[in-house]
Amino acid sequence: MEFVMTRFQSGITAEANADALFITLKIARTHEASGKLRRILAEIPATELKFRRQYPDADMHITVAIGSEYWDQLSPEQRPAQLTAFPALSSGAINMPHTPVDLLLHIRSERHDLNYEAAVLLTEKLGDDVTLAEEIHGFRYLDSRDLTGFVDGTENPEGDHRAEVALVGDEDPAFSGGSYIHLQRYEHDLKAWNQITVKQQEDILGRTKEENREYASADKAAFAHTKRVSLKDTEGRSIEILRHSMPYGNLSRKGLVFVSYCRSPEPFTKMLESMVLGDSAGHHDHLMDFTSAVTGQAFFAPSPQWLEKQA
Ligand code: HEM
Repeated sequence: MEFVMTRFQSGITAEANADALFITLKIARTHEASGKLRRILAEIPATELKFRRQYPDADMHITVAIGSEYWDQLSPEQRPAQLTAFPALSSGAINMPHTPVDLLLHIRSERHDLNYEAAVLLTEKLGDDVTLAEEIHGFRYLDSRDLTGFVDGTENPEGDHRAEVALVGDEDPAFSGGSYIHLQRYEHDLKAWNQITVKQQEDILGRTKEENREYASADKAAFAHTKRVSLKDTEGRSIEILRHSMPYGNLSRKGLVFVSYCRSPEPFTKMLESMVLGDSAGHHDHLMDFTSAVTGQAFFAPSPQWLEKQA
């Protein structure tokens, strides 16, 4: 297999992997720190290629993305047209917080040891100018299920359509090949979730649990997660995002790292509003009664060519 550099970061559209690290970092607000970061960013596409060539079966992807709040420190002259802060929201008991960080490393492959190796390599290069905000280890659970027991990712865009959904095109030429990322770490209340019946859980997702069959549209409740996020634009076209979410957990905390990649921040924002604020009758997404978002960040993942120019 030959590995070549694409006009977008390979992890944006690649199929799901078995293992992922979601590393969020804060960077010192100094001239020296941003200069050093620019040099390291410029090396990331080559670092990824090196891993991909050395371990061809591991399907390694190192996606780097810059936080909305840090962007102007890094690149004051040139900003992605639609890059804005995470759309924090709250209604009733549901709270979607905005917890800004400066940089995301979304490292994924079939091998945790290689993900670990890449994470150590890159964070050591960044040295004392960065502090770790969070380091979350995502893993494939059973047949790609969330820890609620439901298969996650089924209705994701497929094939070439993934690039159409996730990559900025000619609408913003300086940043074509880039992608807008929204990241949220959710902590599940599995005790409460496991106290309701499987039928109640299925009604909340709008899909069956074991077989992962979609409910008929007429059978989906207004509070079903898949109902609240299935939106259409004014011309009747589906509003879409590409999700690369992964379960994480240990014996004390469990949940989902939700991550959305898209050519615009708007689809994610609209879906989140529909989940939290609900429909005109006030039906919110009942999945949110069993999980809490503890972080929320907006990033932009520029093309490898843009990164290389930063040196
Ligand atoms: C679908 C889980 C948060 C957007 C699904 C499905 C599951 C799921 C099990 C059904 C299978 C599939 O098509 O993937 C979760 C969990 C979440 C979460 C456990 C958080 C704890 C979100 C958020 C958004 C979102 C925050 C967007 C703002 C979607 C979309 C679909 C989906 C677009 C596909 C709907 C369809 O076309 O049927 N989610 N989700 N999800 N989710 Fe989520």
